[in-house]
Amino acid sequence: MTDPASPHVLIAGVGGLGAHMVDEALSRGARVSVLVRDEGRLLARIGTDTMARLESVIIGDATDPEALDLALRGVDVVLSGNGAHRTMARELAAACRRNGAKKLCWPAGGTNVMSEDGVTPAYVQFVSQWPAAEAVYRAHQACIDAIRDEGINYVIFCPGRMASIGHLSAEVRGAIRVNRPAGMFVSYEDAAWVMLEAALTDAYDRELISAATA
Ligand SMILES: NC(=O)c1ccc[n+]([C@@H]2O[C@H](COP(=O)([O-])OP(=O)(O)OC[C@H]3O[C@@H](n4cnc5c(N)ncnc54)[C@H](OP(=O)(O)O)[C@@H]3O)[C@@H](O)[C@H]2O)c1
Repeated sequence: MTDPASPHVLIAGVGGLGAHMVDEALSRGARVSVLVRDEGRLLARIGTDTMARLESVIIGDATDPEALDLALRGVDVVLSGNGAHRTMARELAAACRRNGAKKLCWPAGGTNVMSEDGVTPAYVQFVSQWPAAEAVYRAHQACIDAIRDEGINYVIFCPGRMASIGHLSAEVRGAIRVNRPAGMFVSYEDAAWVMLEAALTDAYDRELISAATA
């Protein structure tokens, strides 16, 4: 049974990254609640054993202030399992402020950290080979701006492509970079570790961070 004194995290949206964040948060002894739109999809993703370990399951849309206020009751830190959704970013950030959550951890994209020169957004270097890079950058940046506008504490995680590789990397901590590109791919397992490390420590507060899996 989870210690009632453990930090209480809310994971809003449980897809690929969200399901791995649930596992990582439970493995760190956190109390874990989730906000999802569909309970059947949640069960299919995390299974009955993990479902039974959750503090609460709130069914609702993460853009709905009422659902968010219900989901954030007693929550210390919020992690989003969904990015590139400006309304969700704005409403989650506002709900964090209203409900006194300590931090919002949000996934953006590898387009949104700075290049090695520290002044050019990383997407500029991708555009010649990936014409959609600027649109992806803008979609993520709108979310980052909405979160910053709310004046709350945050960490923005900026991954390249994500997928499961079935295990956590030994050197995940060393793979984290602050506001610089880390690489084109990060496993869901490593990404979830980075998101929970950012959520449960203050090491990356108010930073954009990236990580890559070798
Ligand atoms: N996957 C990648 O390669 C990659 C790369 C760079 C950045 N990212 C960013 O990282 C995020 C997470 O990636 P992922 O692969 O885990 O995505 P995913 O598998 O598509 O998961 C996104 C989850 O967000 C939920 N969601 C969407 N809108 C919602 C809402 N209004 N209320 C509640 N839940 C909502 C979806 O729920 P439903 O099940 O109800 O649809 C889904 O489970 C992405 O959204 C993207 O912005 C992803």
